[in-house]
Amino acid sequence: MLIDGHGRRVNYLRVSVTERCNFRCQYCMPEKPFSWVPKENLLSFEELFMFIKVAMDEGVDKIRITGGEPLLREDLDRFVKMINDHNPNVDLAMTTNGFLLPEAAQRLKDAGLKRLNISLDSLKPDVAAKIAQKDVLSHVLKGIDKALEVGLKVKLNMVPLKGINDDEIVDILEYAQQKGMKVRFIEYMENRHADQSLRGMHGKEILAKIKERYTIRALGREGASPSFNYIIEESGYEFGLIDPHKHDFCESCNRIRLTAEGFLIPCLYFDEAMSIAKHVKKGDIEGASQVLAQVLKDKPKENRWSEEDPNEEDISSRAFYETGG
Ligand code: GTP
Ligand code: 5AD
Ligand code: SF4
Repeated sequence: MLIDGHGRRVNYLRVSVTERCNFRCQYCMPEKPFSWVPKENLLSFEELFMFIKVAMDEGVDKIRITGGEPLLREDLDRFVKMINDHNPNVDLAMTTNGFLLPEAAQRLKDAGLKRLNISLDSLKPDVAAKIAQKDVLSHVLKGIDKALEVGLKVKLNMVPLKGINDDEIVDILEYAQQKGMKVRFIEYMENRHADQSLRGMHGKEILAKIKERYTIRALGREGASPSFNYIIEESGYEFGLIDPHKHDFCESCNRIRLTAEGFLIPCLYFDEAMSIAKHVKKGDIEGASQVLAQVLKDKPKENRWSEEDPNEEDISSRAFYETGG
């Protein structure tokens, strides 16, 4: 079992397979970064898997593949299959923007993927295009339908932004409900890579929009998840709110992150990280295991993030597209 220096059990590994993305979401990567990680620095699936096996053997039972956009990595279903074949009971999920799902969903399902979380910020083509800076909506909606059709369990993630998509909260909730998916509304997390003119909505404001139409009741946090669940009394439909501005999910944090280059990151907003690259390249499992132990020991009590000034000096500069959110 993996226990960190603050007594928290870590059983969830998020693996970013690429920082590249085919969208330019204003809240994440409004411009192409000055430089990408060179392709030759990316760990192969075999190298990533070598570490994943170490983590699984030590008690990780939940793995989420992220990006950037993970489906930009060729043959991703081969990677999914490697993980699933090693342990078919692992909660194996992926977070994607959905654009490439119409072609990829069946292969992912066949390879053993169980769940998908798909970003959907608008049901209006022009608004979706404004946020992602690309005409994406029809592909994403087709991708969602395809994922459901092949039997993947799907959740939606929406980031409400003032003056952009804040009038669509109920529409997206009803769309998700009608298709039998859970939706989570995510407070925009201010960060120095985002378009600095964006204004997010606080959890209370998001809930107020829903309360204009429905009666809702708080259910509680879903285990160690950052999502706080609510139920719509009229229909029994459950949705989630991810509200990092409350700063209350660090105490039950159960996750670590691995980047495509092999950095093991103890926290979403924390600059320090250790690399497992040289160990997995040599097949040195013991070395990789020691790095994992050290990162767990050093995992911070809470993140280094500030909504006031993302450019403040001691605030983490890590980008969402690098860690996979
Ligand atoms: P489930 O397993 O379905 O609960 O997924 P998840 O919520 O772990 O994954 P997802 O990739 O869909 O993340 C949803 C949102 O939660 C993203 O915006 C993440 O950045 C945010 N999030 C996930 N982990 C953390 C965390 O440790 N700290 C903060 N502040 N936000 C997080
Ligand atoms: N604030 C909140 N959520 C974000 N995401 C990406 N950037 C941000 C941000 N700045 C979300 C995406 C995706 C998830 C992995 O992270 O919408 O659903
Ligand atoms: Fe790409 Fe996801 Fe970032 Fe949008 S939020 S730019 S889809 S990595």
